[in-house]
Amino acid sequence: MSKFVGILTSGGDTPGLNAAIRAVGKACINKHGMQMIGFLDGFRGMMENRHIPLGKKELAGILSIGGTILGTGREKPYKMMVGNKMRDMTDVIVENYHKNHLDCLICLGGGGTQKNAYHLARQGLNVITMPKTIDNDVGMTDLTFGFDTALGIAVEAIDRLHSTAHSHHRIIVVEIMGHRAGWLALGAGISGGADVILIPEIPYHIDLIAASILNRSRSGKSFSIVAIAEGALSDKGYQKIHEIKSLLEAEPKKKEKAALKLRLRELDKQYTGNTIFLAQELEKATSLESRVTILGHLQRGGTPSAADRLLATRLGTACADYIHKEQYGNMVAVKGGEMVLVPLKDVVGKIKLVPADHAWVKSAREVGTCMGDE
Ligand code: F6P
Repeated sequence: MSKFVGILTSGGDTPGLNAAIRAVGKACINKHGMQMIGFLDGFRGMMENRHIPLGKKELAGILSIGGTILGTGREKPYKMMVGNKMRDMTDVIVENYHKNHLDCLICLGGGGTQKNAYHLARQGLNVITMPKTIDNDVGMTDLTFGFDTALGIAVEAIDRLHSTAHSHHRIIVVEIMGHRAGWLALGAGISGGADVILIPEIPYHIDLIAASILNRSRSGKSFSIVAIAEGALSDKGYQKIHEIKSLLEAEPKKKEKAALKLRLRELDKQYTGNTIFLAQELEKATSLESRVTILGHLQRGGTPSAADRLLATRLGTACADYIHKEQYGNMVAVKGGEMVLVPLKDVVGKIKLVPADHAWVKSAREVGTCMGDE
């Protein structure tokens, strides 16, 4: 019996999503004789049973298009606004899975989506996922698609900022996406030759950054590029946030846990994304004029790179084979160049951060980049 497969995209849009939809769709239809539908706008669309047929016609001509033809959203099956109330809509989603006679649901997303997909798998649905995010922070996979495109955009931005920083003898602080993980800022900072790279995993000290910029200045380089991840933290912010995180880990009571989570969110708001403040402080400390560029969603938009199209296509075709073999409850991941399966339970909660002694960090330091901590 031919299988009937549903697919949705969830979380932030990512270049390469359409390439993945096309690949898994074409392989499911052409190779395995399956039929497909696509739910619109992530888990909300599935809850509202909004879907479109995905046939050869719909899958044609989308390989190089950015965003997702299905639309996306950040809502969780168990936490959705319905009317003016937050509700658990898992049952409705499960009902719609059966109403559409699905044999399998494919979820494309980052860490949050893997968690939501696992939640649905535990309700008895046949779920399989693929990892996507420009942050490259999904655990248990070497790479996520979207990262390479965003990296290219951020590097081009740094290249362009160099000539204007140089001409005006300014500090330019460029903010790069990455709330928890610094892969994008680190990769782009190294590739673009940033003089300072600040990532969430390594707390920074403003005085040390200012000293390194002044050192450059004394050696005749009167401009500096600072690449900062949006989630980078000063030493003070890092310490406060980590104190609460440790308390949270040790706290067994639900009510106290909720209060600590709230406190963590407040501190997060207070201490991350302080790029403008950092630029002002550096200007004061160095007497060099400073400017800020926030790349924001530019990094997620537009056509995917060749590497992302290739990765998304390889994950997608492998995913179709795994559906054919009914290997559900897994994420299709890339490990050492191979497309492998990882149980969803092993992916959930495993955010992939930059280890402080990672080879990229070492290389950055060895070419004289200030990482904000020495
Ligand atoms: O998860 C990808 C990402 O682009 C992060 O780098 C960023 O912090 C976040 O999404 C922004 O989310 P939104 O598009 O919902 O503002």
